[in-house]
Amino acid sequence: MKAITVRPMTPGSAELQDMPEPDASEGTVLVEAIAVGVCGTDVEIVDGKYGWAPPGEAHLVLGHESLGRVVDPGTSTALKKGDHVVGIVRRPDPVPCPNCAVGEWDMCRNGQYTERGIKERNGFMSERWRIEPDYAMKVDRSLGLLGVLLEPTTVVAKAWEQVVAVGQRAFWEPRTVLVTGAGPIGLLAALLAKQHGLDVHVIDLADSGPKPQLVRALGATYHSGPIAELGFEPDVIIECTGVGQVVKDSIGAVASGGVICLTGVGSGGIIGELHIADVAAHVVLRNNVVVGSVNANKRHWYKAGEALARADRTWLAQLVTRSEHPANFAQALVRTPDDIKVVIQFADV
Ligand code: BGC
Repeated sequence: MKAITVRPMTPGSAELQDMPEPDASEGTVLVEAIAVGVCGTDVEIVDGKYGWAPPGEAHLVLGHESLGRVVDPGTSTALKKGDHVVGIVRRPDPVPCPNCAVGEWDMCRNGQYTERGIKERNGFMSERWRIEPDYAMKVDRSLGLLGVLLEPTTVVAKAWEQVVAVGQRAFWEPRTVLVTGAGPIGLLAALLAKQHGLDVHVIDLADSGPKPQLVRALGATYHSGPIAELGFEPDVIIECTGVGQVVKDSIGAVASGGVICLTGVGSGGIIGELHIADVAAHVVLRNNVVVGSVNANKRHWYKAGEALARADRTWLAQLVTRSEHPANFAQALVRTPDDIKVVIQFADV
């Protein structure tokens, strides 16, 4: 079968290659790939900055935002042939650490977790893949191709849970949310915040293209100027860019008692003259919390499924701006200014 692979830490090594059928050790459920979303992590892996091959292998099959059709449900009692499924990304560490032991692999403490398509386990960018029954999440077939948005929605569902957990350390009735970055994660964060009944604002560099209209269609407010000129102090900021300057400006802009949740993974971003102790003093004097959030456990997968089911399909459909054939994977990995979510489509829905 064909698969899109990389040699981790080797820039430019991505290729569409012939591979043996997925190994039975990867799970009893056999799935035919429908589509796989491309995200910033995939681009980092292809650029040779992140990613680990399975032990003893040179190649890693890319892809962690899956959508597939069950060919053989194997030992699963919940799935049947033809069901649409999405594969959970992370597996608990083998020790296991206390969090992995209770199913919170997203909070793994020792870093020995593994991730499909990212860390030591093959991903989903192959014509067929296998998965353990407990890690195959059934999705509503009526979502069609939009089922591919489930994984990024889980990341946001977890981030939101973190914000609520932190906020509830004191009396807290948040009203305003700022989302920084109107990419897929930012727009899905705005969707969830809107579903929670909040006054949602999204800030992004783009002042044209699909983003402003998508934000407005949610009933949220779009900003393309600097954070400092927002004109209000958000109770919650969901930071989805990973850009140093935006992180710094977010800390400066959040309301007293407010929470900033960092979801973006950037690097570098040196900000001259930044005095860390001054930033710390600002955070201390305003009881702010900056919380990082990565990955998602089963609870978040469930919540994300509910959120997608409640969302307006026409709106969701506009998030998938491009679908490429596997042979054109290289184009799929290059983002154009109007791209939101690009998917690689292996089969018709
Ligand atoms: C994925 C997460 C993963 C993280 C770090 C993200 O792109 O959505 O599931 O935990 O990368 O590897």
